[in-house]
Amino acid sequence: MHRYQSPSPDDAAYIDAVVDRVEASLDESLLPVDIFNDDRIFAAEMQRIFTKNWVFMGHESEIPNKGDFVMRRIGVDRVILVRDSTGTIRVLNNHCRHRGTEICHEDSGNTSVFKCPYHGWAYKNDGDWAGAPLMKDAYGEKLDARDWGLLRAPKVETLFGFVFASLSEDVPPLREALGDAVWAFEAIFNLHEDGVEVLGPPEVFTVKADWKNGAENFAGDAYHVGTTHYSNTLDGFIPGLNNVAVAAHGYDFGNGNSFIGHSIHELIAPPFTLWGYPEEVRSQFQFDRLDDVQREMIENRPPTIGTIFPNLSYLRFPQPYKENEWPIPFTNIRVWQPVAPGVMELWTWEFEYTCAPQEYKDKAYLAGQYGFGSGGVFEQDDTVVWEGIAKAGKSSWAREAGMRLHLRQKRNGPDPEWQGPGRYYESILGEYLQEEFYRRWVKEMRSHKTTQPAEIRAAGIAAGGAETVGTTASTETALAAIAETEKKQGALA
Ligand code: FES
Ligand SMILES: [Fe+2]
Repeated sequence: MHRYQSPSPDDAAYIDAVVDRVEASLDESLLPVDIFNDDRIFAAEMQRIFTKNWVFMGHESEIPNKGDFVMRRIGVDRVILVRDSTGTIRVLNNHCRHRGTEICHEDSGNTSVFKCPYHGWAYKNDGDWAGAPLMKDAYGEKLDARDWGLLRAPKVETLFGFVFASLSEDVPPLREALGDAVWAFEAIFNLHEDGVEVLGPPEVFTVKADWKNGAENFAGDAYHVGTTHYSNTLDGFIPGLNNVAVAAHGYDFGNGNSFIGHSIHELIAPPFTLWGYPEEVRSQFQFDRLDDVQREMIENRPPTIGTIFPNLSYLRFPQPYKENEWPIPFTNIRVWQPVAPGVMELWTWEFEYTCAPQEYKDKAYLAGQYGFGSGGVFEQDDTVVWEGIAKAGKSSWAREAGMRLHLRQKRNGPDPEWQGPGRYYESILGEYLQEEFYRRWVKEMRSHKTTQPAEIRAAGIAAGGAETVGTTASTETALAAIAETEKKQGALA
């Protein structure tokens, strides 16, 4: 079981040496293979990247009502993403403050109180401690609620309904942290005042591959499509797929945040501007919500694939929703969730514009699942090749030989005429977007500060947690739950 720990002096020296080696390799357009399956590097990534940055949690439409919650992860920790009884969105550590077991075992639900299954301590849905069974007999007096609430992520913010959290107080505001990538988010998700909504719960499955391989692929790898997805080019599943690599463009928004764009109307046919949205959806788009460059971009070479560092990716591309049907665009959000060295969970959500007709949403959901998700034809191809990289990362032979990977495609430089933020590349070939991802990785792996749990909790209270527990409705519910436990215990005694 991997937990955040300050590395021992030996570990710190090892990690620093690996990070130095990665940077020196990147300067030569190379990449050491061992970073894809290494116990100490993995532990350092959890501490230095996943506790120090904004991490994607979900979407507001997954928890529309007070008390709604879904289970998520930050690094290896399970967290509860919950809309509390005041409507505030919280991210709570799922471990009981009494003996540490997991409080919640459901993937989703609605509750005003979380009750621990071990001894029955109860917490309000904002994370505040609410009480414990046999209080007088067991503790002699009431415990101080301020000391025993669930750990709470001190920072939670949303962007177009997408919820991000950070375990660090020190992160800049979300929009500032994402920088120029917000401009791309706007172009993709802000075409209607009602925004987008989730079409169902996420699908989660385990892949024996490192989280970085999924993230870097979606950051800028169009080169693999003609080979990895060869079978889909053969059967004409998506017209023009075999030309995707040369027809792909690159948007680099800095800090390891990048998108691939496709001139889909040139690949497939003239109607496929605006990702190929049919008239029933595109007629509702409010184009005045975007600036001129965003409009020109989504009409001619819309962002189709992208990664926001560290582990959030996006995909919107036309695909058939069933055999012999014309492709329609789906919107897939995914998380490359680290679980252990060389192992990740792949989380995928299907989204659609809220204003789209329900019939279209149903088809778009199927289109997304047809290609991506545990049974998706593209997903099968990709995950197999990524699993191979994790095997190489663990190989003694590869390590002793100092095996390094190739990042040396010829580069043409960014388009000097580009009017938008960041940099635009006419050709995606060049692997510069993947390099930017690993440059950010190096930067984050050089951050050595440790976030202590006590600081997290204190910050959580300062950020809006209640100082004392009053007799609110949820406290009463919590006390009723405890009374129920006590009653059962009495019956057993
Ligand atoms: S471990 Fe949760 S109440 Fe004891
Ligand atoms: Fe792929």
